[in-house]
Amino acid sequence: MFLTNPHPDHNAPLEPVDAETLGMAAAEKVERYLSHRDNHAETPLHSLPAMANALGIGALHVKDERFRLGLGSFKALGGSYAVIRLVLEEAGRQLGRSVDIAELHAPEVKAVAAGMTMACATDGNHGRSVAQGAELVGAKAAIFVHAGVSDERVAAIARFGAQMIRVEGTYDDSVGEAARVATENGWTIVSDTSWPGYERIPGLVMQGYTAMVREFLRQAPKPPTHVFVQSGVGGVAAAVAGHLLIAFGKKRPVFVVVDPARAACIVETARAGHPVKIAHGEPTVMAMLECYEPSLVAWRILSRVADAFITVDDEDAVTVMNRLARPSGGDPAIIAGESGGAGLAGLIRAAADPEIKAALGLNTTSRVLVINTEGATDPKRYTELVGIEPKEVGVKNAVGVGA
Ligand SMILES: Cc1ncc(COP(=O)(O)O)c(C=O)c1O
Repeated sequence: MFLTNPHPDHNAPLEPVDAETLGMAAAEKVERYLSHRDNHAETPLHSLPAMANALGIGALHVKDERFRLGLGSFKALGGSYAVIRLVLEEAGRQLGRSVDIAELHAPEVKAVAAGMTMACATDGNHGRSVAQGAELVGAKAAIFVHAGVSDERVAAIARFGAQMIRVEGTYDDSVGEAARVATENGWTIVSDTSWPGYERIPGLVMQGYTAMVREFLRQAPKPPTHVFVQSGVGGVAAAVAGHLLIAFGKKRPVFVVVDPARAACIVETARAGHPVKIAHGEPTVMAMLECYEPSLVAWRILSRVADAFITVDDEDAVTVMNRLARPSGGDPAIIAGESGGAGLAGLIRAAADPEIKAALGLNTTSRVLVINTEGATDPKRYTELVGIEPKEVGVKNAVGVGA
């Protein structure tokens, strides 16, 4: 399924509130906050010339978020950043003065944080980030997970000392339950999706993601002509697309949102022209993208700056994981989790179809950016799908199902 953006707001400027959330000053603040984190380092940018050649494009770059803040995914940038911001704001309120990031570990700030509980629902990665942020600042965390979240992913969140709460049903059910219980208990909801009346905190989460774009623009030899980003609720796609619009204006790259065919809430929203909740079908292997309702703020941005939408099948996602693990032509090997390679799967789909290629203006001069949004965040699942363990990727003579 491929759709160019039919929305009347396509190419309209961002709403002022969104332009501020994703603007230059905000992105600079994110990087300043990151510089205070012990385990912060820019994630690598890989060039894949052999795959670019095979796809008939000029250059292909993969921003590899597997290395982000020790958590294995870009989500590490959003939830923990929002937690830190919220603690500093609350400390400012209680102490009656502005409190800077440099004071994060001061006893009076720690005392404020100790009285706060950060709550969220998660498919896995966002909860890890919120729990890590809460541990860092000395707050409590209550993380809600639905029935489909694997025990490995639950354990990876619980190691930060978070209280884990299992919820019947899907991701959307866990979002509702987290909001209900948090409101009852006076906890702070740090959600990566937004709904009517709840926009600011998901906006901060998205603001955290802008760091990837700033790093990329410093690392790449030239700005991209095309960007493909995968979507769950649309937050990361909107953050990347929105920041690129602010950075480049009318000269921004062509932006394509990639949705799993089995959970295509952004594509269906684009088709309807307004946010829609889609029916639950079979689960998708792209577990982190399994969302059935878009984020309100994300859609407001994507309706303006997304140029096209494309779906990918589960087989596409698994093929990409294998292709990245065992590259040809001297390209570097990359560990991509089930949802990590979905943006690249969208590019591969587009490049294989002459009509889509023409509609997007993809050709031998195109420089395409995709984001490996996660590494093997569930190593057992990774090994099942790729046939080798993550640690064997890039090791000579490693074989397996996809070899
Ligand atoms: C690895 C990975 N990729 C992509 C996404 C999609 O992000 P969003 O829900 O902001 O669209 C997620 C969301 O959890 C994720 O964990």
